[in-house]
Amino acid sequence: MNNIGFQDTERLMSTSAISEDNDNENSLRPKSLDDYIGQEKLKDNLNIYLQAAKMRGEPLDHILLYGPPGLGKTTLAGVIANEMGVNIRVTSGPAIEKPGDLAALLTNLEEGDVLFIDEIHRMSRQVEEVLYPALEDFALDIIIGKGPSAQSIRINLPKFTLIGATTRAGQMSSPLRDRFGVILKLEMYSDDELSKIITRSAGILNIECEHDGALALAKCSRGTPRVANRLLRRVRDFAQVKGNGIIDLDIAKESLKRMDIDELGLDNLDRTLMKAIINMYSGGPVGLETLAAAIGEESVTLEDVCEPYLMQLGFLSRTPRGRIVTNLAYQHLNIKNPNAQNDVIQQSFDD
Ligand code: ADE
Repeated sequence: MNNIGFQDTERLMSTSAISEDNDNENSLRPKSLDDYIGQEKLKDNLNIYLQAAKMRGEPLDHILLYGPPGLGKTTLAGVIANEMGVNIRVTSGPAIEKPGDLAALLTNLEEGDVLFIDEIHRMSRQVEEVLYPALEDFALDIIIGKGPSAQSIRINLPKFTLIGATTRAGQMSSPLRDRFGVILKLEMYSDDELSKIITRSAGILNIECEHDGALALAKCSRGTPRVANRLLRRVRDFAQVKGNGIIDLDIAKESLKRMDIDELGLDNLDRTLMKAIINMYSGGPVGLETLAAAIGEESVTLEDVCEPYLMQLGFLSRTPRGRIVTNLAYQHLNIKNPNAQNDVIQQSFDD
């Protein structure tokens, strides 16, 4: 049990859905499952859980959302709260520093509310321990006073739904993971889905965007709506200043080129990472920390931002001995792979 102090919750959360992001991004977030594009299988199941909870008149079971950054975990949490017709309180693992912080959040919830904790894997063990009885019994166990006169009291909490989001499900303790009744993995989006998201966002932002233009941006969005919406805004700038304000294929291509984004959506950092493995470590394997130090970047950035997409493209593998680039990466970068079987075979054919 923990010694808990109650305090102001303002620092810990935002009361309206997801207001820590800028308003622009907020305006693009779908509010209902019908408007949420992609993640079809996840949505089908979620829809059933939502309907069942509503039919029973109960709050939803606690939900864990996991997957790489930018896939819409926060957006989905907002959709879930909206579909259930309840408030959402948004906070993050690192913002909850002490057990008292969590107690303050929990005691301010109303019956049925959703508490959304982003980056839940970064919550401390001490805070986690307070969360367990809250999740299982909707109760807080508090010790008042110190020493022999300390007293334990239990405070009942309103029935709430915790939605946790993480990019690192593997870094969560298993007692915490096991307390989620629903675990949903978000997958990368297809080009077609991203193109629909871009077209929808363009409509909301009053940007004229042709189908070809949207598809060109989608292909460079790394499977991620956040990147897609960011590209849309930047290309709108180019379209306004360099073109006629309309995003068509030509302006999309020209803008991407100016931003050093290649046809697969790779940027300078992705290319630097792959080239470092090739030029400094003969294609790998090389450990993540060594690689991060070699290119002067934070290892979490490489791991969370660059690697998921490079692995999805089949350009990079994580092995027990470190990162290696594949032959496909050499081909994409136009660098001859000295170890490639194909090249040798190809050469002998050529001879
Ligand atoms: N904006 C961000 N993610 C989205 C999604 N999955 N569907 C529609 N709009 C979005």
